[in-house]
Amino acid sequence: MKAIVVDPPGRTADSLRLDEVPDPRPSDEEVLIRIHATALNRADIMQRIGNYPAQHGASDILGLELAGEVIEAGSRVRGLSVGDRVYGLSGGGGYAELATLHESLAMPIPDQLTYHEAASIPEVFFTANTAVRTLGQTLPGERILIHAGGSGVGIAAIQIARLIGAEVWITAGSEEKCERARELGADVTINYREQDFADVISEQADGQGVDVILDVIGRDYWDTNLKSLATAGRLVLVGLMGGARAETNLGVILQKRLRIFGTVMRSRPLIDRAGITRDYQLHLEPAIISGEMKPIIDSVFPLSKAAAAHQYMAENRNFGKILLDCIDIDELSER
Ligand SMILES: NC(=O)c1ccc[n+]([C@@H]2O[C@H](COP(=O)([O-])OP(=O)(O)OC[C@H]3O[C@@H](n4cnc5c(N)ncnc54)[C@H](OP(=O)(O)O)[C@@H]3O)[C@@H](O)[C@H]2O)c1
Repeated sequence: MKAIVVDPPGRTADSLRLDEVPDPRPSDEEVLIRIHATALNRADIMQRIGNYPAQHGASDILGLELAGEVIEAGSRVRGLSVGDRVYGLSGGGGYAELATLHESLAMPIPDQLTYHEAASIPEVFFTANTAVRTLGQTLPGERILIHAGGSGVGIAAIQIARLIGAEVWITAGSEEKCERARELGADVTINYREQDFADVISEQADGQGVDVILDVIGRDYWDTNLKSLATAGRLVLVGLMGGARAETNLGVILQKRLRIFGTVMRSRPLIDRAGITRDYQLHLEPAIISGEMKPIIDSVFPLSKAAAAHQYMAENRNFGKILLDCIDIDELSER
């Protein structure tokens, strides 16, 4: 099959190249999928650079999520058949024509969704669901601050928080991204290039702070995040785009009785990822089917243009998800 290989690992996206590699083979509990689309995640850039190697036993091909058609089912697969449209969290192997997926991670694609829409959902909706609902325990009427409101994770988190009935505050790096976040349901938007979010919160949150913060920045926002949380606030650390090491005044955590959580998706055991998949199907998929929440696709590149897609993501140009079409490998056609 054709797949994108990293050769050699590097800081520039031109280390990505389309090549011929061996077809994957499904185990007894896996299905083999003809991939229609996969989506980019920031982790792909880290993996390309060499800072985030594939998990033991997982494909070392990039691509954490996919949507496609089942073309073969392992002998112990009971709930899926050849021809089924499925999507899910692959944990690797998405930048290719074919991939295997454990049955417990492969969800039937609702009729209302295209392959592109389905491929744009798993990683960011699962992550945002874990951060906003499971760990953040965001309640109706509470204030949640979502950093990088235009990121894949951000656009999912805004919609989940709205669904809960929370008051949604976001930060983003341009007025255009702030405007689009408001269209998605954000109540208060802060362009971090023009305003300090802690100042805005101290002026506009009735002196209370926010109840939950979904953070993807880490070090650069550490102190301002702690300052901006209300008493008994929750900080959910999801990414470290601003650095991984921070000094902190532990007294603030004690005084405000804060709770601090971290989460990752890829390195969790299969049973955890299957549980997170079910949780999404139970609590969020119905809202996607009804149109109450929607996947937001920023752009689609043919698989062979993965390097250009990586460059586009690294320049922070996207609002929502960047996809790779794995059927139209060389050029996108009208489909
Ligand atoms: N823990 C998990 O399970 C998990 C799962 C998925 C993703 N993540 C993490 O979530 C984060 C977002 O991932 P994604 O794939 O959704 O990203 P994305 O769609 O590429 O969006 C990232 C956005 O973050 C903003 N940004 C980048 N660097 C920044 C900085 N230093 N300070 C402030 N804003 C910055 C940029 O928007 P602006 O124009 O607004 O600056 C950029 O467009 C990443 O850190 C990723 O590793 C974690």
